[in-house]
Formats: sequence, C-alpha cells, structure tokens
Amino acid sequence: MHKENVYILGIESSCDDTAAAVLHNGKVLSNIIANQSIHEAYGGVVPELASRAHQQNIVPVVDQALKTAGISKNQLSAVAFTKGPGLMGSLLVGSSFAKSLAFGLDIPLIEVNHMQAHILAHFIDKEGYEKPEFPFLAMTISGGHTQIVRVDDAFDMTVIGETIDDAVGEAFDKSGKLLGLGYPAGPEIDKRAKLGDPKAYKFTKPKVKGLNFSFSGLKTAILYFIRDQSKNNPEFIAQNLNAICASIQYTIVGILMDKLKLAVQETGIKSIAIGGGVSANSGIRTALKNTEQKYGWKTYIPAFEFTTDNAAMIGIVGYLKYLKNDFAPQNTMATARLKL
Ligand code: KG4
Ligand code: ZN
Repeated sequence: MHKENVYILGIESSCDDTAAAVLHNGKVLSNIIANQSIHEAYGGVVPELASRAHQQNIVPVVDQALKTAGISKNQLSAVAFTKGPGLMGSLLVGSSFAKSLAFGLDIPLIEVNHMQAHILAHFIDKEGYEKPEFPFLAMTISGGHTQIVRVDDAFDMTVIGETIDDAVGEAFDKSGKLLGLGYPAGPEIDKRAKLGDPKAYKFTKPKVKGLNFSFSGLKTAILYFIRDQSKNNPEFIAQNLNAICASIQYTIVGILMDKLKLAVQETGIKSIAIGGGVSANSGIRTALKNTEQKYGWKTYIPAFEFTTDNAAMIGIVGYLKYLKNDFAPQNTMATARLKL
C-alpha cells in the first residue's frame, strides 16, 4: 500500500457536534462542524435529540468536508471515526456512517478513541504550533472529561488522574446555571471573570487524594453560597456577578493547577499539553503560561479549532494508525465507555 498521498476522512459524533474533516498527509484540508443549538433550551445535552441531529447533519457535513478539501470521495485512503467514549446514540450515527462509507468505497476503516484524539490533536501540522516531545503530560479538560494522562508515545498513554464525579466543564456550566447564565456557561464565566475580583469570595477546594479530581462538591458549595447571600440581598447575584464568576474561575483553575503540579512532582515530567473545550479558558491559559517562567515547564496549548470537539483530531489519529496499518474490522462496535 503506498503511503505518499494519504487522504483521511475523520468523523466525530461522540456528543453534540457533528464533525467531519479531510487530512492530506497529516495536514488539515477541511474541518467542518455542525453545532447543535437545540440543547441550549434544555441547559444541557439531551442524548436523544443529539442522535437525531447527527442523523440529519452527517451527510451534509461530510459532503462539505470533501468539497472544502477539493477532493472526491474516490480519492480517500481511509475513513476514521470516533468509536468512543461518548453518548451511545450519537456514536452509533457516526460509526454506522463510517462503516458504510468505507465498505462502499472498499477502503480501510480506522477506529479512534476520542480521548486519545484530544491529546494527539497536538500533532496536527499547523504553522506557529510546536509538537510536544515524548514523554509529556496531557490534561484533557472539557464538558465530558477531566483527565491527566502520561503520554510516552502516540500509542502509549496512561491515565494517571481523572474526575470521580463531574467534569470540569460541567463545573463551569452548572455554576453558570445557578447564576442564571445560558448554556454552555464556560465562555460567559470566562468573559465576566476578567472584570471581577477573583478573591472576592472563597470556595473550599475538594479534598481528593492523589491525582484524581472532584467537582460536585464545588457545585453544592456555590449553590448554598448563593442561596444564603440572596436571602439577605435578593439582588446579590445581579450586583456581584463578575466577582462571583471571577471567584469561581479562580477556584477551578486552582484545582487544576494543584493537580498538575502534583503530577509533575510525581512523574518528573515538565512538559504539559492541554486539550478539550475548557482549555479555551483564559484563566487556565495564563496560569499555565506562567509556569514556564516560574517552574521551567514547557507548555502546549492547541489552536482553538482543535481544542473543542472536532474531526481533524480524529483524522490525525486516523493518519497515524494508517501509517501502521492499524485498521478496524467491519464488525467493530461503538463503545460508550471506551477506556484510553
Ligand atoms: O470539548 P468541548 O467542546 O465538548 C466536550 O464537552 O467534549 O467542551 C465544552 C465545554 C463546556 O463545558 C464549556 O462550558 C467549556 O468547554 N468551555 C469553557 C470555555 N470555553 C468552553 N469553559 C471555561 N472557559 C471557557 N472559555
Ligand atoms: Zn471531547
């Protein structure tokens, strides 16, 4: 099999974004995402509605990805898709589509672990972005996941810490909901945090041993705090929204940084890459950048379009697996709780 002109179609459908991308030898030619605004009205992703929207979006999104890339489907070398983890109904749409397309075109099918893809997104060719050297630590932070992973090689990863309850993105989104902000609240909290005093209010950090995280206690603490303050002053939230957002963000960033510091201490690895929607947060970006001067860490923050859920990251894993002839059988199954 010749490996000179490799065109990979990546398909991502694990949660509420239907995404398709075409990569040529590891370079992104197109990266299309259809977001599902339907969930905003519910303040969170509704799985049943997500799978229906994927069903509607998948063909137009793939079509657009091929058109933008300027290639025909007959030029594809392989189809890579998200096997898991994610919502079962959502995964089934992408995996069934990928299988059918690969079967119809008689080309290899490649299965991709979504969490591995968030990490390997750092290996997409992009001007101005450096690729991390092995070994490094990856912190994947999003609405669905919170993990610290030791990465010894592209296909040798070990989870050394993860959340025991909510994901960090959920901590942002659920706190925002308590404050009456829309979904997802992370970006709005970030924006307001820049205008408020981060030390105005203090929330206790969870006491979880080792490298694991917990965020459900923080949500409860914020709930009680707002309830008590609003009893005395019904206008409390409206009058102090920026300071509340700043304090919440300060606490969450503190929790993430504490665990990263511990992970560096335990592994001796000072090279840190982050990924997932929450890595767009300005607080975590600044805190991370500061460690370069302060502790001599080397940090990697991906380009925004490869940070949140996208198919280019599925495509890059597809490309790396293609080079190793690591193909999936047609009877492969989407797996909601796929481990790294
Ligand atoms: O990776 P992503 O698009 O989807 C998954 O959850 O997999 O991440 C979405 C999450 C949401 O919880 C959203 O509130 C959060 O990322 N987020 C942010 C920011 N931008 C997105 N959280 C804090 N600050 C931000 N700037
Ligand atoms: Zn994700």
